[in-house]
Amino acid sequence: MTAAGTEALKGEDWAGEMGARWLASLDRFEGMIAPIGDALLARANYSPGERVLDLGCGGGATTLAIADVVGQQGAALGLDIAPMLVEAATRRAVAAHSTARFVCADAATAQLDEPPFDRLFSRFGSMFFAEPVFAFANLRTMLKQAARIDLAVWAHPRDNAWMMEVMGVVRRHVDIPPAVPRAPGPFAFDDLGYLEEVLKGAGFAGMEADAYHGLQPVGGPGASPQEATDFVLASMAAGRVLAEQGPEVRAAAHADLTAMFASHHRAGEGVMLGCKAWLVTAHA
Ligand SMILES: C[S@@+](CC[C@H](N)C(=O)[O-])C[C@H]1O[C@@H](n2cnc3c(N)ncnc32)[C@H](O)[C@@H]1O
Repeated sequence: MTAAGTEALKGEDWAGEMGARWLASLDRFEGMIAPIGDALLARANYSPGERVLDLGCGGGATTLAIADVVGQQGAALGLDIAPMLVEAATRRAVAAHSTARFVCADAATAQLDEPPFDRLFSRFGSMFFAEPVFAFANLRTMLKQAARIDLAVWAHPRDNAWMMEVMGVVRRHVDIPPAVPRAPGPFAFDDLGYLEEVLKGAGFAGMEADAYHGLQPVGGPGASPQEATDFVLASMAAGRVLAEQGPEVRAAAHADLTAMFASHHRAGEGVMLGCKAWLVTAHA
């Protein structure tokens, strides 16, 4: 067992390294979370003519889907802090002749030169703020009075086998300190009581949440155990920790990850591991 380096466990640098990693594996990441996005879009149930802000839109898949529904009379604007993702999303919109538009800015402080929005949407793009009350209060200034927000956030890691199983294997080889509850990152809002506190503090009311349970294809639909391992090592925080280790540790962890993924592999589907997210609604 070796100790984890500290660099890999620092906050996620979405405007830099993490944004580049997300872009490099865009199809795999989006393929993993597509069903959760579909569930959130169905819950939000947009209508033609609505103006929708997609917070932390990444490569823009959900923004494009929203644009298709709200049409030319409405607006679908993706807001993201990562320039490389905003560029990729914009290229995608042009190629698809979509009315979706994209802006690169930090949602915590951005002041958009836009009329207020009817709705705010976010598939896993709302958990990375250092000061979430401040950030959500800023987002609220971009919305109409009583505007509805729909967020997908990860539930606790213990309910997300795709994360727990990977961390379990990696911790056999590297001593990784436990995650800090509520710290900015994918699981910042796993405690719904805390999310409600944040939203209330920012002026939102009437929070309601439903659980989404499913199986998630690690490394994207159809990935082999080897491809899932390569994806984890290239893209997830556990992979960054391993990258700081010596060749023997890396090789042993690689073999163990691939064996673990093989035990969850389903022909024609991929490496399927359980996931749980919260689909959350509130009003400005
Ligand atoms: C897990 S990814 C989700 C991307 C996209 N919503 C999707 O589902 O494909 C999180 C996204 O949030 C963005 N993000 C993180 N912090 C942000 C901030 N302060 N302002 C705007 N976007 C941010 C990241 O750049 C990244 O694209």
